[in-house]
Amino acid sequence: MIKIAPSVLSADFSCLGEELAEIKAAGADYVHFDVMDGLFVPNISFGIPVLRSLRKCSDMFMDVHLMIDRPLRYVKAFCDAGADLINVHVESDTENNIFLALEEAKALGRRIAVTLKPGTPATAIEPFLPMLDMVLVMTVEPGFGGQSFMHDQLEKIRTLRSWLDEINPLCDLEVDGGITPETAPLALEAGANVLVAGSAVFGKPDRKAAIAALRGEF
Ligand code: DX5
Ligand code: ZN
Repeated sequence: MIKIAPSVLSADFSCLGEELAEIKAAGADYVHFDVMDGLFVPNISFGIPVLRSLRKCSDMFMDVHLMIDRPLRYVKAFCDAGADLINVHVESDTENNIFLALEEAKALGRRIAVTLKPGTPATAIEPFLPMLDMVLVMTVEPGFGGQSFMHDQLEKIRTLRSWLDEINPLCDLEVDGGITPETAPLALEAGANVLVAGSAVFGKPDRKAAIAALRGEF
């Protein structure tokens, strides 16, 4: 089943609670929460207090994408603030510390995911594959919404789908960056089943139609 995860990075920050209520009514499956620290990526977004506030006003599944250096330092804080899934970048720390971050989130009862930047080969996450609930392939350089989909990532999505089918078939495969009604079918055909979309949902006045378009329903 295709899952749609609108990225709140493109939402109206002056009324985030209402924005989440609207995408829930429009049929979104997850909320994609993009955390940026100005170090791991050249931008700063929002963090723990904002997640805590949103948790109070929404029961939606919070997919927390940590674009931060050494995420192990903040796993517990994001779990306590309301994350349902902790998503860390494989490039953000040593292999051992990434394991520790994932194990900590798992021990706290959360789902766990690892993300790859466009320049990172699929092999970088091989050691983690059996334990993961989700793999995220970035289809833009992380840091900003509204960029164009990188078609050269489709091969990586295909490779990961074939490995997951063998090793961990229940694991979700998510794509993030430049997803539109035109690029969504390419990512799905390559084997993704969770689509993150910022501008293609929050940038549209009719969120229900925007989500339906990503699912290929018109
Ligand atoms: C980029 C973020 C994305 C971003 C996607 O670093 O991880 O989640 O919000 O935005 P769009 O869908 O507009 O490319
Ligand atoms: Zn993201």
